[in-house]
Amino acid sequence: MSRTKITTPSRRRFLAGAAATAGIAATTGFVPARFAIGQQAKLKLGLMLPYTGTFAGLGNNITDAFKLAIGESGGKLGGRDIEYVQLDDESDPAKATANANKLIVGEKVDFVIGTVHSGVALGMVKVAREEEAMLIIPNAGAGAATGEQCAATVFRTSFTNWQPAFPMGNVMLKDGHKKVVAMYWKYAAGLEFAGGFKDSFLAGGGAIVKEIQVDFPTVEFQAHLTEIASLKPDAVYVFFAGGGALKYVKDYAAAGLKDKIPLYGSGFLTDGVLAGQGPAAEGIKTTLHYADALDLPANMKFRAAFNKAANRNADVYAVQGYDTGQLLIKALAAVKGDAKARKDLIKAMEAVEIDSPRGKWTMSKAHNPIQDIYLRQVQGGKEVVLGVAHKALADPAKGCKMA
Ligand code: PHB
Repeated sequence: MSRTKITTPSRRRFLAGAAATAGIAATTGFVPARFAIGQQAKLKLGLMLPYTGTFAGLGNNITDAFKLAIGESGGKLGGRDIEYVQLDDESDPAKATANANKLIVGEKVDFVIGTVHSGVALGMVKVAREEEAMLIIPNAGAGAATGEQCAATVFRTSFTNWQPAFPMGNVMLKDGHKKVVAMYWKYAAGLEFAGGFKDSFLAGGGAIVKEIQVDFPTVEFQAHLTEIASLKPDAVYVFFAGGGALKYVKDYAAAGLKDKIPLYGSGFLTDGVLAGQGPAAEGIKTTLHYADALDLPANMKFRAAFNKAANRNADVYAVQGYDTGQLLIKALAAVKGDAKARKDLIKAMEAVEIDSPRGKWTMSKAHNPIQDIYLRQVQGGKEVVLGVAHKALADPAKGCKMA
């Protein structure tokens, strides 16, 4: 275990004491001095996200939209001022537990918010479980975080990797594609995206010609694209995101495949990078829990506010950051800023209905959004919503036994 844990008093013990004190306050109406002082103290939020590397843009959009939501509610949560502690996780799973320990045990933050990369998120979940710390995942879709590793203090405001992937099998079958190459980064997210896709595609009679795995965060695709050309599948299904997605779509077109073998993927293939991809992205169909063009008042309002605050366009990552802010606003209002009132705090987080730019969503028993998955297509440089690919989709949450 990390040195930080040995030299720092256990947060679990600290919280047990605080919870007991809060319990007395709740049952007797008596407010001890320690609690009153604690309530006036700033609420400490640890943001553990990628601010460098291929996912840097994703981390920045989550952060800016999260702060936008809190700014819109007066810059406070449950009446308390906020202190942010930000840490660049570099999307490096090898540093994940040490980084999470720095925030949870070292900085004693009230909430950790992070991260983008599934491998890093699983390290964070491990520490959050050991320390019984509050963790909100604003992107990473690792199924285990709300599956086998689910926990009372672990919540997600984004998706599981299975969710946007599963509806795509039927979409591609309907489009007449029976023999498909799947290509993705070889780590938890890529494997789970391929898995979710195969769940519906194979069940509907499709066949995978070949799975091409690329080490994360490699963006050298050329040799694989040559192989795809020679395999001549009906279509290709991929998972890449951020800088990798930007390059993949351009390389695919440059290799002459764009008009020969239709490209499909999770919406992360084009979200946030569409402008940079330009004409290379034309015609790509994807499935995702968001689309820029969703004709919803909450979406219009959010996109205008984000653009004004950040001077760039919102995307799915910004939406997830914004909803993380909305979740905290509601939860801390319910406990009047007392983040140590754990039982009530968790109850409030479980009961939320978020009026999100993506459409309304609720929290599943496993603490993951139940949400609509949209079918989108790039037409004329814009992401057009073709329809709802799956209404109110909940992750199966395999293996989740909530204590
Ligand atoms: C993940 O690692 O879970 C992940 C990363 C980037 C995305 C989606 C999922 O866009």
